Formats: sequence, C-alpha cells, structure tokens
Amino acid sequence: MSMFDIKGKTALITGGNRGLGKAISLAFADAGANIVVVSQSGRAEEVVEAAMKKGVRAVSIQYDLSDTSHMKELVDKVNKEAGHIDILVNNAGVQRRAPSVEFSEEDWDLVQAVNTKSVFFLCQAFGKAMLERKQGKIINLASLLSFQGGFTVPAYAASKGAVAQFTKSLANEWASQGVNVNAVAPGYIATDMNEALINDQTRSRQILERIPAGRWGQPEDIAGAVLYLATPAANYVHGEVIVVDGGWMGR
Ligand SMILES: NC(=O)c1ccc[n+]([C@@H]2O[C@H](COP(=O)([O-])OP(=O)(O)OC[C@H]3O[C@@H](n4cnc5c(N)ncnc54)[C@H](OP(=O)(O)O)[C@@H]3O)[C@@H](O)[C@H]2O)c1
Repeated sequence: MSMFDIKGKTALITGGNRGLGKAISLAFADAGANIVVVSQSGRAEEVVEAAMKKGVRAVSIQYDLSDTSHMKELVDKVNKEAGHIDILVNNAGVQRRAPSVEFSEEDWDLVQAVNTKSVFFLCQAFGKAMLERKQGKIINLASLLSFQGGFTVPAYAASKGAVAQFTKSLANEWASQGVNVNAVAPGYIATDMNEALINDQTRSRQILERIPAGRWGQPEDIAGAVLYLATPAANYVHGEVIVVDGGWMGR
C-alpha cells in the first residue's frame, strides 16, 4: 500500500463547498476518498457533482456551526449518510474585522462559536468514534494568526490561537491511541474571506511585499498539506501546526 493511499476512506470537510474547503474536498476526491461536505448554506452542488464525476461518494449536509446545541443531530446524520468518518477536516471559519475599541460582543461570540467551539466539539464527537476504531485523522485549520496578532481581528486571532493550542492538547491525549490531530496554518490565500484585504490596495501591497513567494496563495496551495496529514505518511505526526504561507513566517 502506498504511504499516500486514502482510497475508500471517508473525509468530512466543514466549509467544504468553497474557498480552501472546496480545494481540500476536491483533492480528497482526486485521491479516491469519499467526501461529506458540511456548510452553513448547504450549497455544495458544484463540489458534490465534481467529486462524483471522479468516482467517489459525495454528500452535502447543511448545518450552522455557530450553534453547537444540535451537534448530536449533525453527527447522527453524518454517520447515517456516510457510515463513519476516517478523516475530519475542521475548515469552516469566519472573519470579523473592526478596531478593537469598537469590536462588538456579537461578533466576538460568533467568531469564537464557529472557529473554536464547534471545532473542539466536532473533534470530540468524531474523535470519540475514531478512538473506538483506534484510527483516524483530524486536521484543523489554524492561521498565521495562531502565532501573530494581526490588525483589527482580535476575535479571529484569539480563536485561531485556541485552535492551535487545543490541537496539541488533543494530540497529547490521543496520539497513543491511533488518532492523529494536527493543524495547517495557511498564509494569505485569495478567498472570499480576504475580500476586504484584497480590495484595500495599501494592505494588499504591504502583504504581498512580505511574501517571499511573491504572490498570494491559492486554495490548492493548502490542499496538499491537509491531504498529507490525512495519509499514512503522517502516522507519526502529532500536534503539529504546519505553516503553508509562501515563506511569510520566515521573514
Ligand atoms: N483565506 C485565508 O487566507 C486563510 C488564512 C488562514 C486560515 N484560513 C482558514 O481557513 C478556513 C477556510 O477559509 P476560507 O478562506 O476558505 O473561507 P471562506 O472562503 O470565507 O469560506 C468559509 C467557509 O466556511 C463555511 N462557514 C462559515 N460559517 C459557517 C457556519 N456558521 N456553519 C457552517 N459553515 C460555515 C462557509 O459555508 P457557506 O459557503 O455555506 O457560507 C464556507 O464554506 C477558515 O477556517 C479560515 O479561518 C484562511
């Protein structure tokens, strides 16, 4: 068996319908994995259709991750549709921008709920089943703001710092039981989430100037690292936060 073989495995990708999640979903489908896409809108037709054309099973489930009170229903639905989950990719996320003196409690709560609380409880729900089977891979989407503070994004920085930290906490508890928990920290990737930065000519130029690769990242630039962490090649990788940023952090 190839070190990179995930054929026939089933991967759940939150926010797998667009942006980074779409590239990740299609990379898994290309590798022969079945996919379950969870999104707030439930609008994942394009990804589901493209994945099925590649010969794998693909399912779309609508769920609002800002509300964890019905998470058991989500988990039951996923298990009913997909059997069990071998690979969990916690990719869904939100950004809210405002100067810290004006940052609203509503935005703070939303960012923590989607980016942190739902991620932890999805890890717990699907991790529990993985522990019973003594195998599984969990990959959380962290950020450069797991390490840096950013500007006008205090809730997001706090949420991604938390993701990096509890990724390590879970890895410490689960590494000896066949479950790998890791994270990927993308640099600046051109998606809807960064529309405000891309449209701000000064910020966009300043960001570009610091990226040694000389370009913003594309969603496909992130999919490879996520895919790697889902394969047997990463069996001995635990609690790691892999930065994929065109060189930004080395500068
Ligand atoms: N883009 C970057 O430069 C960058 C850098 C570092 C880290 N990241 C992280 O990478 C991940 C993906 O980012 P992206 O740029 O691809 O984001 P994006 O293009 O804005 O897409 C966000 C995704 O999350 C889903 N989502 C948002 N709120 C949700 C909720 N309440 N319930 C369920 N799903 C929800 C969206 O679903 P709908 O389509 O249904 O709304 C969508 O699929 C995020 O965790 C982000 O923080 C991104």
